[in-house]
Amino acid sequence: MRISPAVPGARILGLGEYQPATVVTNADLAARMDTSDEWIRTRVGIRSRRIAGPTESVADMAVIAGGKALAAAGLDPTDVDLVIVATCTMPSPIPHAAAQVAARLGIPAPGAYDLNAACAGFVYGLTAAASAVTSGAANRVLLVGAEKLSDWVDRDDRSTAIIFADGAGAAVVGPAATEDEVGIGPVVWGSTGEQVDLIRIADRNSYLWQEGQAVFRWATTALAPVAVEACRRAGIAPTDLAAFVPHQANLRIIEAIARRLGAAGVPVADDIVDAGNTSSASIPLALARMAARGDVRPGDPVLLLGFGAGLTYAGQVVLCP
Ligand code: UT7
Repeated sequence: MRISPAVPGARILGLGEYQPATVVTNADLAARMDTSDEWIRTRVGIRSRRIAGPTESVADMAVIAGGKALAAAGLDPTDVDLVIVATCTMPSPIPHAAAQVAARLGIPAPGAYDLNAACAGFVYGLTAAASAVTSGAANRVLLVGAEKLSDWVDRDDRSTAIIFADGAGAAVVGPAATEDEVGIGPVVWGSTGEQVDLIRIADRNSYLWQEGQAVFRWATTALAPVAVEACRRAGIAPTDLAAFVPHQANLRIIEAIARRLGAAGVPVADDIVDAGNTSSASIPLALARMAARGDVRPGDPVLLLGFGAGLTYAGQVVLCP
């Protein structure tokens, strides 16, 4: 006996992004701390990053990115029945971002929750959104990755201030066009408990701290197999991808994973160069900007790979809206 109606697969219906206005260049950082443009470009591949204004909040950025994603999907706020915000940088735990975003966008009485899987948060969120749609729990989900890392990074610490930045990216997830279409592929996810402390914010009075070299080693060795497996489960060869959009952590990490993925010739997102590392915002931000430039087109298969604190990771193939 069936207890729920049959529902089609899920897909991304629209994307949106927001970057704060203030651009901080490597020269700006070199003027206030002992670093250089050359060191930063060589070690992490960043030339500039965006930093939110003092009163600009995670929710402010999420509202703008979310509104753009709704417009791109051709939907009204009233069409949305679930809001998920992936974030790890809220200034206080309540009220949570998703409820604020829903209220400010005029989405009437949706389910609303925040999700913290650090820099893997957006891909975890996509899995949650797709599951909500395919189970019938929601019809259209607004998912936003939004971060204000600048609130949690010591602006005088050269090992972190050069890397982390602010921004938001959003996707609307809804039913796929046809019953057999899979717009959001199977996720490969996990966490690495024994390395749980390698990236952390100890308490509300502490800044973000990371053991950079250990994270670098993990990212460049453990994640390519996750990316390969996500392609295998989606039934696509890495060389048939239209793009690879990993978390924008460090350009050297991105290039190392891309090499081991075996997707020669496939475009790889390098948004980090002028966006910095925006944690859970980095994947939707990079994907939305690639789509806006025409680097990926509707229906294109793209591999997403989130990874970061926890150490937590998630990869999946999606079709572009
Ligand atoms: O979203 C997840 C985010 N986390 C990551 O992606 C972290 C992955 N790890 C990394 O990206 C790299 O480990 C870092 C970029 C964080 C650091 O690069 P590294 O090549 O591992 O440098 P290091 O920490 O081994 O430091 C080498 C030297 C040190 O000086 P000494 O002790 O050799 O004299 C550092 O003090 O570089 C120094 N250093 C800097 N020098 C100039 C550290 N930061 C800077 C800087 N400018 N900004």
